[in-house]
Amino acid sequence: MRTPLIAGNWKMYKTSSEAIVLAKAIVKTLSTPDGTQVVICPPFTALAAVGQVVVGSRISLGAQDLHWAKEGAYTGEVSAEMLRDIGCRYVIIGHSERRQYFGETDEGVNKKCRAALASDLTPIVCVGETLAEREAGRAYGIVETQLKGALSGLLPEQVQRLALAYEPVWAIGTGRTATPSQADEMHAHIRKTVAMLVDAEIARSVRILYGGSVKSDNAKELLERSEIDGALVGGASLQADSFAAIAAAAKR
Ligand code: PGA
Repeated sequence: MRTPLIAGNWKMYKTSSEAIVLAKAIVKTLSTPDGTQVVICPPFTALAAVGQVVVGSRISLGAQDLHWAKEGAYTGEVSAEMLRDIGCRYVIIGHSERRQYFGETDEGVNKKCRAALASDLTPIVCVGETLAEREAGRAYGIVETQLKGALSGLLPEQVQRLALAYEPVWAIGTGRTATPSQADEMHAHIRKTVAMLVDAEIARSVRILYGGSVKSDNAKELLERSEIDGALVGGASLQADSFAAIAAAAKR
């Protein structure tokens, strides 16, 4: 009942012209609809160009961040409306790299979610613990706190429209994935937390993606788990073949 979602987070890679080449290759490789949704999230500077490439294809466009204000004197920032205007349908919010290097807080994540939803963008809200937190037995508590903060005050129908991404920080870019059962267990915990915070039915329908060193050779064992509804892919989304193989593994 939950449509699988595969999102490629290109991070700070690809100039506009390089992004066009990659996007074209992805559109070509993933031309046949197979019941999964696929999103690519290039850097801001390439969004408009990539938007032109994916138009009319099964690939949607997403951004990697946004500002919560509608407009204003916020040098360097980009609003939800600006993203919508150039064809974005999704936006990643609260990625651990933003939390770690740019001071993103749960409160900021919440404000960004509201802004995205108000402009009809689908937020992909990231949560996840660090290695130290996991080793101290605090992973579940940390993720719960992040969820509480992110979803605070959102209406059930708003929560239904977003996607969550569990991304253990120790698995991002490290080549070390959570085991399928570690991920599955955390996803079940996230679903339970959403049921508690929001509504049981919404919790059953909200999509929870896994992210952290998802590659073509481990995607299947992760994506076949019942609680894992898709993937947020970093490194492996920078090549059309590996990204397409991951998307194919999400087919139900
Ligand atoms: P990775 O990144 O696939 O390169 O580990 C995932 C992410 O940061 O979203």
